[in-house]
Amino acid sequence: MTGRIEGKVCVVTGAGSGIGRASAIRLAEEGGRVLCADVNETSVRETVASIIAVGGVARSFVVDVSSSASVEFMIATAVEEWRRVDVLVNNAGVNLPGLLHEVSDETIERTLGVNVKGQIYGCRAVLPLMLAQGGGSIINVSSVNGIVSEPFLAVYSASKGASVMLTKGVALDYAKQGIRCNVICPGWVDTPINYAHAEMLGGLQHVYDTIDSFQPIGRPGEPREIANVVLFLASDEASFMTGSVVVVDGGMTSQ
Ligand SMILES: NC(=O)c1ccc[n+]([C@@H]2O[C@H](COP(=O)([O-])OP(=O)(O)OC[C@H]3O[C@@H](n4cnc5c(N)ncnc54)[C@H](O)[C@@H]3O)[C@@H](O)[C@H]2O)c1
Repeated sequence: MTGRIEGKVCVVTGAGSGIGRASAIRLAEEGGRVLCADVNETSVRETVASIIAVGGVARSFVVDVSSSASVEFMIATAVEEWRRVDVLVNNAGVNLPGLLHEVSDETIERTLGVNVKGQIYGCRAVLPLMLAQGGGSIINVSSVNGIVSEPFLAVYSASKGASVMLTKGVALDYAKQGIRCNVICPGWVDTPINYAHAEMLGGLQHVYDTIDSFQPIGRPGEPREIANVVLFLASDEASFMTGSVVVVDGGMTSQ
């Protein structure tokens, strides 16, 4: 541990898996106190256990980010535990792929509820606190699909585009109050969120065998490679960055 965010209180949503879990672990490794929040209680407890096992500070919280009340309670719980919130990582997400003319109302509601409203609720809940504290860092996890789309991802792409613009709006409105808000756009990262999409593209093995056709680096990203960027944006090393769209995609959108 080198203490790059020593003592900062962090809230990470979707911390039970993939990028959220890696981010929670990375933030804790560098001295953050981390509220690990997820809709999946079992998996988020595993994340917390792995942090505590190596001497880190974390506790779990069960949240449904598509519920504003649940998100408010999540932030209140972090404050009750540690008196402040310095970093919010709005990472929880779903990817329910399909051709738009076949997509159900439920899929649309859930995608927008988790990916868009979840991030809006998170920002709204934490902003009064960050204003009172005199600053903070909000990191929204969007996707390359916030910038370019892919087959079967019209609804997901719409939700991720919203995340990019939410970030810019928040960044503008609170820049003078020391609150930074940035968005990360990952390329294809090896996590379960992609499994349904991969099936539509011919299976996960096929996607990985042909990945250099769309991701020039020639391999999927690892969750920790996104978590490293989350850590940087959370830290004071990124003190001049707000409203930034940080693409971390192995070259995908350079083509
Ligand atoms: N993996 C990729 O290739 C990739 C690429 C670009 C962007 N992203 C984004 O990264 C973020 C994290 O995804 P991941 O790849 O780690 O996927 P993942 O499926 O491994 O993790 C997502 C987590 O979000 C949680 N979650 C889902 N709905 C929730 C809700 N309503 N409330 C709280 N938690 C909920 C899940 O339980 C899960 O633990 C998502 O926003 C995703 O869109 C992922």
